[in-house]
Amino acid sequence: MKKFNVIIIGAGAAGLMCAIEAGKRGRSVLILEKADKIGKKILISGGGRCNFTNMYTDADNFLSGNPHFCKSALSRYTPWDFVALLESHGLSWTEKTLGQLFCDQKSKAVVQLLHDECDKAGVTIQPSSEIISIKKGEDFLVASEKENYASDSLVIATGGPSIPKMGATDFALQVAETFDINTIPFSPALVPFVFTIETLDAFIKDLSGISTYVEMGAVSGGVTLNQSFKESILFTHRGISGPAALQISSYWKLGDEISINLFPDFDLLEWLKEQQTEHPQAELKTILNYKLPKRLAQKLCEHVLINDDISNKTMRQFNLPELESIEQQLTQWKLRPSGTEGMRTAEVALGGVDTDELSSKTLETKKVKGLYFVGEAVDVTGHLGGHNFQWAWASAWCAGQFV
Ligand code: FDA
Repeated sequence: MKKFNVIIIGAGAAGLMCAIEAGKRGRSVLILEKADKIGKKILISGGGRCNFTNMYTDADNFLSGNPHFCKSALSRYTPWDFVALLESHGLSWTEKTLGQLFCDQKSKAVVQLLHDECDKAGVTIQPSSEIISIKKGEDFLVASEKENYASDSLVIATGGPSIPKMGATDFALQVAETFDINTIPFSPALVPFVFTIETLDAFIKDLSGISTYVEMGAVSGGVTLNQSFKESILFTHRGISGPAALQISSYWKLGDEISINLFPDFDLLEWLKEQQTEHPQAELKTILNYKLPKRLAQKLCEHVLINDDISNKTMRQFNLPELESIEQQLTQWKLRPSGTEGMRTAEVALGGVDTDELSSKTLETKKVKGLYFVGEAVDVTGHLGGHNFQWAWASAWCAGQFV
C-alpha cells in the first residue's frame, strides 16, 4: 500500500489549489480524480474563458447556513492572490462587468497553470480513479479501483452535483455522513426558471430570445425578499434565464413568485407623463418600445396590462391612476415559475457539509482529525460572477496550509 502525507479526492479548482499549497510545504500529495482529466468544470466555466474571480468578492456574495464562516478564508486568500498567480505564468485578464475577471488565454490556460504548479510542487495526480471505500484507522485508508492508499490527512474536494452528465455527484455528502458529520442536502442554484403550460402565462414562449436589463427579486408567501439583482434576463423557450434570473434562483423556493422591475433606476411614471405631452396620439406599446425591445413592449400590452383597457387608447386618454397602475405592473411584474431546470444545468449547488462541523481557519472537521472539506462541497455558495471559484481557491488554499 502506498502512503502519502495527504490524499485529495477531486482534481477540480479546490483540489488542485489545496494540492499545490500542501506540496509547496513539502508534504507528499496524491490527488485521486474520477474523471479522465482534471479541472473539467474550469474548462467549461465562463463560456470557456473562466471567470476565475471577482474583484469585489466578500461574504455578502455567499449563501451559507453561517454567513460569517467564509470570511476567514476569503480574507487570507484574496482575488488579487489568484491574479498574481495568473500573472506569474504570463497570463492576462480582463474585467468584463461588475468586477468579474476573465482569463484572456481562456480556461484551458488556467487548468494548465494549475497542472504546472502541481508538477512544481511534486504532486501526484491519478485520473480515472473511482473511489471504492474510505476508512479511518491510525491513517486514512482509501481504496480506488486500481490501488489502495494510506494518508495522514484526507481532503474531500469533490464539488457538488450540478451537471451530472459530467459525472458530478453528492460524493462529499456521502463521505461526511459515513463519519457522522452533519450535511445540508444539495439543491440547484444559479439555474434558469421554467414555466409549465399551466403556470406559464404562455406568452413567455413568444418572448424567447429577448434580453432586457431588469431588477429581479423573489416574493415568498407574499413577502418580498431583501435580495434583488440588477442585471439582464433572457427569455428562453422554456422560461427565463440570464444573469439576474440565475442569481435570484439561489434564493427562490418552489411556490415563490419572482418579481421583475422592467425599469430599474428609472422614474417610469414621470416619463409616461412626459410622453403624454410629447406623443399624445401614440399607443402605449409604441411608447414602451422606446425603452424596451419591440416584441416585449407589444406582448406586455397584450398580456400583462390587461386591466387597463389600453387596447384602444392613445397616450392622451390615460388618466393618472391608469398611468400609476401601468407603472406598478411594469416595475413589479410578478410571475410564478413552475420550477427550475434543476441540476441538469445549474452552475452550482446550494448545501454541502454543515459549516458548524468545520474550522473556518483550516477547513478541518471538528469530529475527525485530519479530514478536510473544501470548495463547493462545503455549505458556502457564491453569487454568479467568479465568487464560486474565489471560494474554491480560498478555502483550498487555507486547508493547504494545514493538511
Ligand atoms: P469541482 O466540481 O470543480 O471539482 C470536483 C472534482 O472532483 C471534479 O474534477 C470531479 O470529477 C471530482 N470528483 C467528483 N466525485 C469524485 C469521486 N467520487 N472520486 C474522485 N473524484 C471525484 N464559477 C465561477 O466562479 N466562475 C465561472 O465562470 C463559473 N462558470 C461555471 C460554468 C458552468 C457550466 C458550471 C457548471 C459551473 C461554473 N462555475 C463557475 C462554478 C464552478 O465551476 C464551481 O463552483 C467550482 O468548480 C467548484 O470547485 P470544486 O473544486 O469545489 O469542485
